[in-house]
Amino acid sequence: MIRYGNLRWMLLFLLLVEGNANSLFNSPILTADASYNSYKFNILHHLTAISPYFESDTNELNPGLPIGCTVDKVVYLVRHGSIYANDYDYEHTIDPFLKRFQSSLSQIDFSRSQEFAFLQSWNSPISDPNEQLEKLTKSGRLEAFHLGTQLAYRYRNIIPDNLDASFKIWASSSNRTKQSASSILSGLSGKEKTVDDVSLINEEKNQGANTLSPTKTCSKFNISSGSEQANIWLEHYTSSIITRLNNRISGFQFSANDILAMQELCGYETVIRGSSPFCQIFTSDEWLSFEYYFDIKYYYSFGYGSYLSASLGMPWVVASSELLNETVTTNQNLYINVVHREMLPLVLTALDLYNDSNENPTFPLDRINYRRAWRSSQFVPFLGHIALERLQCASSSYNGKFIRILVNSAPQPLPGCEKGPGASCPLTQFMDYIKNRDDLHDDFSKACQVNYENSTDVFTFFP
Ligand SMILES: *[C@@H]1O[C@H](CO)[C@@H](O)[C@H](O)[C@H]1NC(C)=O
Ligand SMILES: *[C@@H]1O[C@H](CO)[C@@H](O)[C@H](O)[C@H]1NC(C)=O
Ligand SMILES: *[C@@H]1O[C@H](CO)[C@@H](O)[C@H](O)[C@H]1NC(C)=O
Ligand SMILES: *[C@@H]1O[C@H](CO)[C@@H](O)[C@H](O)[C@H]1NC(C)=O
Ligand SMILES: *[C@@H]1O[C@H](CO)[C@@H](O)[C@H](O)[C@H]1NC(C)=O
Repeated sequence: MIRYGNLRWMLLFLLLVEGNANSLFNSPILTADASYNSYKFNILHHLTAISPYFESDTNELNPGLPIGCTVDKVVYLVRHGSIYANDYDYEHTIDPFLKRFQSSLSQIDFSRSQEFAFLQSWNSPISDPNEQLEKLTKSGRLEAFHLGTQLAYRYRNIIPDNLDASFKIWASSSNRTKQSASSILSGLSGKEKTVDDVSLINEEKNQGANTLSPTKTCSKFNISSGSEQANIWLEHYTSSIITRLNNRISGFQFSANDILAMQELCGYETVIRGSSPFCQIFTSDEWLSFEYYFDIKYYYSFGYGSYLSASLGMPWVVASSELLNETVTTNQNLYINVVHREMLPLVLTALDLYNDSNENPTFPLDRINYRRAWRSSQFVPFLGHIALERLQCASSSYNGKFIRILVNSAPQPLPGCEKGPGASCPLTQFMDYIKNRDDLHDDFSKACQVNYENSTDVFTFFP
């Protein structure tokens, strides 16, 4: 406990605008001391699904096009942009904290504490929950638009100059995914586009595997999976924070939930207002603990910790790989699907990326596994995306077609298939790889124990 108190003063808290002209947010950066000048811990890169979009670590692999190659077909899976808070986080975590805070204002003088002085005049960024929850923020729309423009530049050789109504973009049929898709389309085309220009994919049960929201159509899926494990870790990691913070402001008596709420508010307030004073309360260790909490939760609900995950992600992976395997000339060569957070980890699990199975146990609940591969901040921030690029290469060293996977713009080599340029996978081997993955896992209907006859195991929306 004393350890955290001391650490706090060893760190310099600096508010710096990152050296990125496009950045909308004040990035809260924690630094070390003169013994390690270049240490920069950007809190916004450790907020898992509440992180604003950022580019993943490339591990020195060049995300640009390998020499001698062009991209001639590409499929994108994109999470919607920043929202005001999701229902669950608000109702179970943030709102209980806000209520406790409101009722304590008359008894506690927050101005006595350096960390909490701002609370004296603070009000919630979620001012109208009924209106705002689950909705895109201003930055959510802007970032989606920005992604559209980036894709237009990156793939200019395969996008027609004039995107007409024949160009399709697909989205799950909820407002935040629809609106993110129309903003991406506006950025892509340079014209005003509306949700009417988006092809919607139903989330209802009888869609079976033919959906972008398989957790909603699979009745075996249990959204609470992982809560027990994550809550054990929550109680563990917050106990020392509670002691530290109770010493800083007497009378409030922080709970584990309050700590989680303040850490979530750092992210949500940042995407709503551009910055948040909550980000400055915690140390880098405490942020890593928060990140680990959601990594545990997502591992058991949407990742390798659930037998369902690969079966739910596979139909989209199979349909995308078949698209990339096509040799006939097509009018559309860029395919974008806008989805909810869970789709990204499901697809990564189907692909066997970020799989740590060599370590046992992967998620000890009394300490952080620092060496884990499963780091959800790297793949589920707002607007997080997975791209499958088909490279057409003709050089002295490489000839033919290759598939390269990018996660949040950074190349992610497939285990055992990385011989191509930029650590890509030769197309024929990629097709074998996907077939092996598909054979390893139960089909959707079997995994989900679907009990109606016309269920489908395949995703059929691509032309
Ligand atoms: C979705 O957006 C439409 C049009 O903007 C609106 O009428 C509707 O109430 C929204 N639905 C939800 C659930 O917010
Ligand atoms: C869902 O998961 C939770 C947490 O593991 C468990 O308590 C609950 O029984 C599960 N529900 C079903 C229907 O299996
Ligand atoms: C991929 O394309 C090749 C060549 O057209 C074809 O022979 C093969 O069956 C296709 N593979 C799959 C899995 O569709
Ligand atoms: C993760 O990797 C391990 C070891 O390579 C493998 O046994 C396991 O099946 C993989 N998980 C999935 C869901 O494919
Ligand atoms: C499948 O069957 C259900 C229930 O009988 C029906 O409501 C639904 O429309 C059918 N779906 C398809 C894709 O045929």
